[in-house]
Amino acid sequence: MNILVIGSGGREHTFAYKISQSSKVNQLFIAPGNAGTASLGQNLAIDISDFEAVKNVVLKNNIEMVVVGPEAPLVQGIYDYFKNDPELQKVNVVGPSKDAAQLEGSKEFSKIFMEKYNIPTARYQSFTKDTLHQGFEFLETLDSPYVLKADGLAAGKGVLILDSLQEAKDELQEMLENAKFGNASATVVIEEFLKGIELSVFVLTDGKNYKILPSAKDYKRIGEGDVGLNTGGMGAISPVPFADQDFIDKVESRIIIPTVRGLQNDGLDYKGFIFIGLMNVGGYPYVIEYNVRMGDPETEVVLPRIESDLVEIFDAVGTQSLDQKDFIVSDKTATTVMLVSGGYPESYEKGKLISGLEVVKDSLVFHAGTKLDGEDVVTSGGRVMAITSFGETIEEALAKSYDNIANIRFDKMNYRRDIGFDLK
Ligand code: AMP
Ligand code: GLY
Repeated sequence: MNILVIGSGGREHTFAYKISQSSKVNQLFIAPGNAGTASLGQNLAIDISDFEAVKNVVLKNNIEMVVVGPEAPLVQGIYDYFKNDPELQKVNVVGPSKDAAQLEGSKEFSKIFMEKYNIPTARYQSFTKDTLHQGFEFLETLDSPYVLKADGLAAGKGVLILDSLQEAKDELQEMLENAKFGNASATVVIEEFLKGIELSVFVLTDGKNYKILPSAKDYKRIGEGDVGLNTGGMGAISPVPFADQDFIDKVESRIIIPTVRGLQNDGLDYKGFIFIGLMNVGGYPYVIEYNVRMGDPETEVVLPRIESDLVEIFDAVGTQSLDQKDFIVSDKTATTVMLVSGGYPESYEKGKLISGLEVVKDSLVFHAGTKLDGEDVVTSGGRVMAITSFGETIEEALAKSYDNIANIRFDKMNYRRDIGFDLK
């Protein structure tokens, strides 16, 4: 079978890596891909938000399966575009429909969904410009810190956590009246602050059945000790030691089952990954957010631990027969450390030559922001590559990642030396 992976980050390189291990794959394509995916398949230089361009490459290359990495094409309705086109209808698109993707595309939608199905989450209310003053009053009923969330997609920047009530009121006004996050903050969700430790659990569903994937924790801040600006993610660990069977059982019964049943009940077509961002509050899981895709860099530790044939699993998603598939996950711990461009997540330079990749031993290198410049691999983004390793323990896996990083070089390379610091 010919398969297309959509996206260009470390997540998509990891998908390409797992897919290329399957005996069921004939030709693998990645759009647009990066220098890493180019060694596993053929990169296609198309704009992934141009669905007609996607259609053309799918028909031209007899592609039967499309795995969608990032949220944007899902929220824009790529799944529906395929299902509504007679020439594309039979293609197995791994990803939710446009309506279901609102679980990530709209915070208010996801809160209403959770409320309806009794899924534990922070208490909330949502407001618009016309209800700004009710928003102020609601803030007065809450304790500090205050959590304000732009309803729509805001490139991971739409959540503000503020210590003072006055600051929270000012920011609310900025979001609603001055469009601080553009149209994304025309509606703002205000919610109670949950105190606990964060982790993520991933689910793959065919709309009826589901498989629970390994848990993971990512490190979002740029600075060691979890300080400084938020990034897309500087590293990740899987599994999360405190997410033991008892905790995962609670996640399954209180969150996963009601989520999958709720999607079905609401007629929301969902054949893809659900990324459940959780807060562990005193041993009980609360949903912070849903994403309708895998995480990045969580994918770089979650997928390598899956031992089952991923293409067979995706096939079963398409035919809604996931319940008939075994799903085998390695007991080993996986860690990944992200190498980033100096200056990221603010401005940074691109086009830096990357050296030392040929001596990497006992680790997997997943490219994120790289491209080929002739024979050379050069940087082309803020997050450049993730170095993933396995071990019996977090320490053992991390030691391999850091040993290999010592040999990798590019001008102004930066990374966190303390991934997993809170879990050891
Ligand atoms: P989100 O985009 O919804 O994942 O929010 C971004 C980050 O804000 C999360 O990863 C949490 O660290 C934090 N956060 C969001 N909602 C809450 C909450 N209700 N209580 C505490 N922290 C939160
Ligand atoms: N690492 C967080 C995300 O993918 O949203």
